[in-house]
Amino acid sequence: MPLPIYFAPLEGVTDAPFRRVHSAMFTGVDKYFIPFISPTQNLIMTSRELHAVAPEHNAGVRAIPQVLTKEAEHFLWAARTLYDMGYGEVNLNLGCPSGTVTAKGKGSGMLTNLPHLEAFLDEIYAHAPMPISIKTRIGFTSPDEFDALLALLARYPVHELIIHPRTRVQFYKGRPHMPSYAKAHEACTRPLVYNGDLFSAGDCEALAAQYPRTKALMLGRGLIANPALARRLAGGPDVTADELRSYHDALLEAYLARYPKNVALGRMIGIMNHLSCCFESPEKPRKAVRKARTLEAYQDAAAALFARCALRENPCFIPE
Ligand SMILES: Cc1cc2nc3c(=O)[nH]c(=O)nc-3n(C[C@H](O)[C@H](O)[C@H](O)COP(=O)(O)O)c2cc1C
Repeated sequence: MPLPIYFAPLEGVTDAPFRRVHSAMFTGVDKYFIPFISPTQNLIMTSRELHAVAPEHNAGVRAIPQVLTKEAEHFLWAARTLYDMGYGEVNLNLGCPSGTVTAKGKGSGMLTNLPHLEAFLDEIYAHAPMPISIKTRIGFTSPDEFDALLALLARYPVHELIIHPRTRVQFYKGRPHMPSYAKAHEACTRPLVYNGDLFSAGDCEALAAQYPRTKALMLGRGLIANPALARRLAGGPDVTADELRSYHDALLEAYLARYPKNVALGRMIGIMNHLSCCFESPEKPRKAVRKARTLEAYQDAAAALFARCALRENPCFIPE
């Protein structure tokens, strides 16, 4: 029985138009995590955040909202607001490595102050109206921090514990630290979800075989590059070049309906950077995609990629 597959949240990529188009065209994803909203003392959502979580913009998608804050009161306000919108689960971000976020002690910055994290978790688990899952790194500067973090998290009814086994200082570089994941796999009594560098069906199958108590897999870049990866893992067909073309065109249409042209262009360049990994020798058209400053130049470059490059045998994300 293949494991459930979760689409990782990627701020600036997996927004509402992306989630709608992907879920309409490809099966196999059980949950789509919404990139974080970040409530502040005003206790209002920005229009961008409201658009991201509004149920009408997530119609037909099993979407899970994520909250980034270090204030329990702000978390609880967001959780109650999301609950009233109809959400049945909320995710806490303990992983964001961005300097502007960690400087405020949020995201993976929360891993540097475990007494504060403990007081925060006491409050939110006592008062949230719905189950709370957590997405975390294994520490701020060193995997040695993970034991204390795991012991702390073990005290709460964490709905699902999603582990990205890198430290904050690694950002997305280097390899995931698998001894840390092995520790969690050994010790954790809560449902455990693995995230990090699963780019092919083989990667996912190997992880599930080596860590059989893993309850689900969360995929980000691998699913952006090969949008049919979850379907393939569920026993469905591989992606085809025609499908990728239709998917690309549907995304562009959805972005143009939501954003000004220059924003839609930026979004498409980001997506194409990933999708192009699925093709043989994509370097030349990929370079033209990256250099495109107008929608017209972009469309010419994308058309060249689809026309000239064949699909690779094992289409999957390749880190640069
Ligand atoms: C551009 C970018 C934006 C991201 N935004 C978020 C976010 O909003 N919330 C979050 O928990 N993780 C975020 N992440 C981390 C991803 O969810 C995921 O953990 C990471 O890409 C590793 O998984 P992968 O190897 O399957 O891509 C982001 C990562 C990137 C590269």
